[in-house]
Amino acid sequence: MKTKPIVWKLQENVINHGETKTLVDFIKTTDRYTQFTKVKELETAWSKWQGCKYSVFVNSGSSANLIILDLLRDVYRWRPGDEVIVPTVTWITDISSVLQFGLKPVFVDINLEDFSFDYRSLAGKITNKTRAIFLSHLIGFPAEINQIKHLIGKRKIALIEDCCESHGATIDGKKVGNFGLVSSFSFYWGHHMTTVEGGMVCTNNPKIYHYALLKRSHGLARELPKRYHAYYQKKYPHIDFSFLFLTTGFNVRNTELSAVLGLTQLNKIDHFIEQRNANHITFNRILNKYRRHFFIPHKRGVSSFCLPFLLKDAALRRPLQVFLHQHGVESRPIISGNLLKQPFLRKYLHAGEFKNADFIHNNGFYIGNNQFVDKKRLDYLDSLLREFFADL
Ligand SMILES: Cc1ncc(COP(=O)(O)O)c(C=O)c1O
Repeated sequence: MKTKPIVWKLQENVINHGETKTLVDFIKTTDRYTQFTKVKELETAWSKWQGCKYSVFVNSGSSANLIILDLLRDVYRWRPGDEVIVPTVTWITDISSVLQFGLKPVFVDINLEDFSFDYRSLAGKITNKTRAIFLSHLIGFPAEINQIKHLIGKRKIALIEDCCESHGATIDGKKVGNFGLVSSFSFYWGHHMTTVEGGMVCTNNPKIYHYALLKRSHGLARELPKRYHAYYQKKYPHIDFSFLFLTTGFNVRNTELSAVLGLTQLNKIDHFIEQRNANHITFNRILNKYRRHFFIPHKRGVSSFCLPFLLKDAALRRPLQVFLHQHGVESRPIISGNLLKQPFLRKYLHAGEFKNADFIHNNGFYIGNNQFVDKKRLDYLDSLLREFFADL
């Protein structure tokens, strides 16, 4: 081995000393840990940062997606078998939630420019049973949302934006998550900011917001803004208002502790994104030296989630992953590759229809990008690639 190894994990301990102290101070002074004023404070601060009217803090991005689908089903009276268009490469719970509500996932291949839908295939998958297009802005790349909106036209199709990997990505200067009816974010450990576990539902639509509040917390009427309480108290005088349930719900609330952490992280998110993007630019420059071997996507408005390798020759993918691993660099598939290869989704797999998802599956992997990735690590990566490709 010619190069001295560096440990480069997918993610490091993102909670620094100052944040530990903030959390300890909070614990010492609070007598309330369950969802309360800090959660509200985070929601207000997040809405301001994100540029939306309403935000609902939940315990994961998957929970955000779960309640979004459930509430849209209620609000728009979707029926079993109604169709939701989903990408073939995204996080698995985007698909699970569609199935869990008896809706039909209609899979569309992705494109290799921004990793969202293959827009031409998307057009052919819209039918009179399509109720929603559930798009993912994948690995920080903003989708061509105006093309999607153009395809929808005047049809009553809900546009859901999964922004779980794309906090702060922009389209013409506007943050993703503000183009559809409702959007979701994840604050899981490896994402642009973290609450350890956590997620957000964002919307400008008051009805969607109210349903999200209800669904997050058992369907309880008391979760609605205070100005609605008197109306429901009067309407249901024989039920204790504190235990009045207006709809089906879950318990996907988060805690005050997570919100306190979220508030500290939100103060730093712009800096984190700047650093991730600078790393991504350097990474692309390094890959460019080996462009014979790599396909190097880039797009305006990216908010880098990870550092992706897309090898032109699938046969080199595994050896490069193993080589990097042996030198301390952890990697993983691009999200989970083509989801239709997963055991419970194989029945949706039609040979040849999902070429780009297969390409991601067979030729792609990624390594971590975050505030701990610096020049030293990127120089190290450069030297590793020089060594790996020396004889190729
Ligand atoms: C695109 C996408 N959607 C949804 C999620 C789910 O978020 P969580 O892990 O917070 O449940 C993830 C998780 O990484 C994701 O990458």
